[in-house]
Amino acid sequence: MITYGKQSLDQSDIDAVVKVLTSDWLTQGPAVETFENDIKNYFGAKYCCAVSNGTASLHLTGLALGWQPGDVVITTPLTFLATANCIVYGSATPDFADIDPVTYTINPNLVEEKVKSYQSKGRNVKAVIGVDYGGHPCDWKALREIADKYDLQLVNDNCHAMGASYFGNKQYAVKYADVVTQSYHPVKHITTGEGGAVLTNDSVIDEKVRRLRTHGMTKKPNQLDKNDGTWYYEMHELGYNYRITDFQCAMGSSQLKKLDWFVQQRREIAKKYDKSFSNIDSLKIPRPHSSIEHAYHLYTLQIDFERLLLSKPEFFEKMKESGINLQVHYIPVHLQPFYQKNFGFKPGDYHVAEDFYRREASLPIYPDLSIDDQGRVIENMVQYLNV
Ligand SMILES: Cc1ncc(COP(=O)(O)O)c(C=O)c1O
Repeated sequence: MITYGKQSLDQSDIDAVVKVLTSDWLTQGPAVETFENDIKNYFGAKYCCAVSNGTASLHLTGLALGWQPGDVVITTPLTFLATANCIVYGSATPDFADIDPVTYTINPNLVEEKVKSYQSKGRNVKAVIGVDYGGHPCDWKALREIADKYDLQLVNDNCHAMGASYFGNKQYAVKYADVVTQSYHPVKHITTGEGGAVLTNDSVIDEKVRRLRTHGMTKKPNQLDKNDGTWYYEMHELGYNYRITDFQCAMGSSQLKKLDWFVQQRREIAKKYDKSFSNIDSLKIPRPHSSIEHAYHLYTLQIDFERLLLSKPEFFEKMKESGINLQVHYIPVHLQPFYQKNFGFKPGDYHVAEDFYRREASLPIYPDLSIDDQGRVIENMVQYLNV
């Protein structure tokens, strides 16, 4: 079965993991710090704290930024659940701003409208989380301007766009956002199995994330009320075990060396899909903004099923029968029963994201997708869509 995404591992990744497995440290050892340094260097961040998964990185970000009941945090409806759930973990109020119909990322004009509307009701928006959806960076210049104008915290849920560039800069994420979160799940550009990280240029945020990653424990002399000896630690705030292991980090460092190549492979596949589908009226290929270079975590095709002879579920079923498991990214978060029931969202609230959802199909894209399999995807698409 051809899936929409998959890890690319080779002997160098296996060797890196095996080396750690035969060392003294399986967790809390030197490979974690090495990986954090590698990530810092690649993405140009002053600080990086590696954690157990991308959801943990979002949770710790919300805690470090002090989100609490009464705070409003705005994000995009077109994202994975975790982006919005991290707002609810701390009992802050989630809200959404619809996407831009061309880039599919959060629309800064709608963010500003929403912030003003809250202000007019005497409520302050605390933060905005942008998601570099599918590998296309958000309009970070505009979002930064809004954040500065209204004193908002700005977070980049960046895990789709590792290796993308914005105005020619691959280190854009930490340049514009106060905090950047990443996930290293196997479908992402680089993997540690499960894993994630919080990147920032702010030492206070980094210190807090580090403490909360390990139960809120501290051994730092300047943070202790007293000191009974070398074993002594204190806990002043409630933390978690969100640590990542050394063998995962060894895999991460090895994978990171290949990130540019992985992105290049994804771009080649995207180019082939673009060429095959660009002249078909009922299909809309991705149209990256001129200021960015796409990282193609996803290749999202918009299909006008109303003009075709079959429905979206029928099309997905037929592709699956032919061994191709397409995916949909995403069911807009505000339509989830949990968000409708607890926060009063309803169908029609964010119609650009909802229209997008009705038409979207994520095609297989990953570095190890063979030329033959790319051809199979294209042939089957053309056959079933009858285009
Ligand atoms: C945009 C986005 N944010 C957060 C996450 C959560 O990452 P993880 O699965 O590592 O917890 C994902 C994972 O798919 C994601 O796509």
